Amino acid sequence: AFFPVILAGGKGERFWPLSRLNRPKQFLCLDGTDRSLLQATADRLLGLASGWENLWVITSSLIAQGVRDQLTELPSDNLLVEPEGRDTAAAVAWTSLEIARRYGQDAIIGFFPADHWIADQSVFVDTISAASQLAATTDAIVTLGIKPTFPSTGYGYIEQGEKSGIFDDLPAYHVNRFTEKPNRETAETFLSTGRFSWNSGMFIFRAGVVLKELRAYAPEIIEPLEKNGTDVYPKLPKKSIDYALMEKTGLAYVLPVEFGWDDLGDWNAIERLLKKEDNKNVELATHVGLDTKGAVVYASNPDDVIVTIGLEDVVIVRDGNATLIAKKDRTQEIKEVLKTLKSDS
Ligand code: GDD
Ligand code: MG
Repeated sequence: AFFPVILAGGKGERFWPLSRLNRPKQFLCLDGTDRSLLQATADRLLGLASGWENLWVITSSLIAQGVRDQLTELPSDNLLVEPEGRDTAAAVAWTSLEIARRYGQDAIIGFFPADHWIADQSVFVDTISAASQLAATTDAIVTLGIKPTFPSTGYGYIEQGEKSGIFDDLPAYHVNRFTEKPNRETAETFLSTGRFSWNSGMFIFRAGVVLKELRAYAPEIIEPLEKNGTDVYPKLPKKSIDYALMEKTGLAYVLPVEFGWDDLGDWNAIERLLKKEDNKNVELATHVGLDTKGAVVYASNPDDVIVTIGLEDVVIVRDGNATLIAKKDRTQEIKEVLKTLKSDS
């Protein structure tokens, strides 16, 4: 069987004030449908899992109840609750140990972020099936490579090597090098070679393979968990799987992806998704804009009226007692502001 795991412990601060501590972005409906990002992720994976009994979610204690409320059919044994988030390396280590204990070292596991938008479901299913075929037959850590369109500094970059085989008509390649979140200059160099793709953030492998690689490259995370169980969780180093494992392993493979993908990281991604025409505003609110263009306007209460005059390239988000008004290219800086805004809950 194939065991998809949804990584659902992130905070999604860049959607503040819509995202709050106890309502992170995976609970929000952001793609124009009435399914939250978390629910949409589960919808995509259910067929691949052959039902709820093989689907897993790992999240932090603060939002575990929200996950139960949103995924009412998820078996309670398949929800791993971290006492506190220690980033994705610890989450991958714990879940892989747990699935190996229950189903053995050969269980095929896939990790899936809860903040992705995917255009073509049937190509997605074919790609993940090919990836699990590769993982079943090779000691492989399979990644999915997205064709890059700009020198993003928020993604991992994968340098494609030799072709390694064909799975379900999809070619797989060895990974020469994996670089997480390079600086702008390096990202530009990567792009100019034409050999790099973005890392989609999804990983597929057999339990035994990832555990062996974690023991080799991230013993400070896997060993305490194996020896002492989850009591040590809050003391584990905070590291993402990209830095802890992907930059180091020699077993990485990449499948080029053709299903249409986006990381819904901030309001600019929502604009990419929903904008119909250049210069039009993206309006998820009752918005009256006079001489306003390139704006993204959101209000949780559809009765709130937002009027803008003479504005360009701004994000306006109104939720309950809080409002964000920002220049579009500076929305990342909300993370800095939130450090000083202790009352955010
Ligand atoms: N359970 C749990 N615990 N989940 C977590 C934790 C944690 O401590 N931290 C983050 N997550 C979840 C997030 O909710 C998200 O669904 C997923 O793990 C990925 O974390 P992000 O924080 O969104 O990572 P990123 O976007 O900066 O980078 C990753 O994804 C990119 C593509 O979207 C990397 O894998 C990059 O290489 C990749 O390009
Ligand atoms: Mg992300």
